Amino acid sequence: MDFTAELLEWHRAHRRRLPWKQTGDPYKIWLSEIILQQTRVEQGEPYYLRFTERFPTVQDLAAAPLDEVLRLWQGLGYYSRARHLHHTAQQIVAEHGGRFPRSHKILLKLKGIGPYTAAAIASFAFNEAVPAIDGNGYRILSRVFGMDEPVDTSNGKKLFAELAEELIPPAYPGDFNQALMDFGSLVCTPARPLCDECPLSSGCYAFAHKSVEKFPVKSKRTAVRARYFYYLFVRHKNSVFIRKRTEKDIWQGLYEFPLIETEERVPSGKLMAGEKWAALFGNVPLKVCRVSEEIKHQLTHQTLYATFYTIDVSKIPPALQTGYLNISPDLLDNYSLPRLVTIFLEK
Ligand code: ADE
Repeated sequence: MDFTAELLEWHRAHRRRLPWKQTGDPYKIWLSEIILQQTRVEQGEPYYLRFTERFPTVQDLAAAPLDEVLRLWQGLGYYSRARHLHHTAQQIVAEHGGRFPRSHKILLKLKGIGPYTAAAIASFAFNEAVPAIDGNGYRILSRVFGMDEPVDTSNGKKLFAELAEELIPPAYPGDFNQALMDFGSLVCTPARPLCDECPLSSGCYAFAHKSVEKFPVKSKRTAVRARYFYYLFVRHKNSVFIRKRTEKDIWQGLYEFPLIETEERVPSGKLMAGEKWAALFGNVPLKVCRVSEEIKHQLTHQTLYATFYTIDVSKIPPALQTGYLNISPDLLDNYSLPRLVTIFLEK
């Protein structure tokens, strides 16, 4: 079986038509890759269309206020990516005259652009023969070639890169990289791959050994940290309180309600009798109108368990007088909010 020839032939017949494939513009390719690191193609497509409509060039993105970029990003999560995106656009304008560097090596120096993204841009926009191996690529190569080296170690990455460098055809590097992505999403899928229809199955190690589910091998499952968020949706007359998260933590730069965070689940009686509650409300009279159900919210390395308390106060609690904005709830749409918070507001 000739891996590269079979893959390219499959791609010619089955390639997916997606808006970022119709372009050779490195800016748009970059944008699509950053969005697609964050979500699946179907969900990413409308974000891509909104971003390219609002910011048709890297100059437009660089000139936009960060808040607007974060707002367009809303719902994709992992906001540091959006901040990097904005920062990198400014870097490209300031240091590269608004033109993307044309080589993998120089692209790698840009913030938020790792080996994969640099290779995607260099191969799609500039036809440079560098493999862009994402999760799809690791899965396909590990299965077909029986690579049992973990893909999440530097040694593993090196071995996969060496293999891919041998396979990538110098004349069609972009097609090869794109084919790996499409083939991984449509045929060689993580669960229940379509081996019956697969043009590579006759030469596939994992298929022959009935072990497709054992690949790719990972060295560790990353530990997931649990956090408990008690959000206080505090209403005073017709206004609510929000603040910007500035800490080096999840959601930097986004807005949220006053928050009590704990390391364990705390029942409402205990929360309301606790120090953090007292520090927020002092002895201002208040009425707890509603306590939501616990909402579980999964991030990459953290699981959040959030409960929203709707609270009416007749006076502004001293702790909310500084550091918080006091706004009409109708204006919440104008602020970038974590997805978790919008889930609560939509209910
Ligand atoms: N995932 C990441 N980049 C992609 C692309 N260019 N096409 C399809 N899926 C992708």
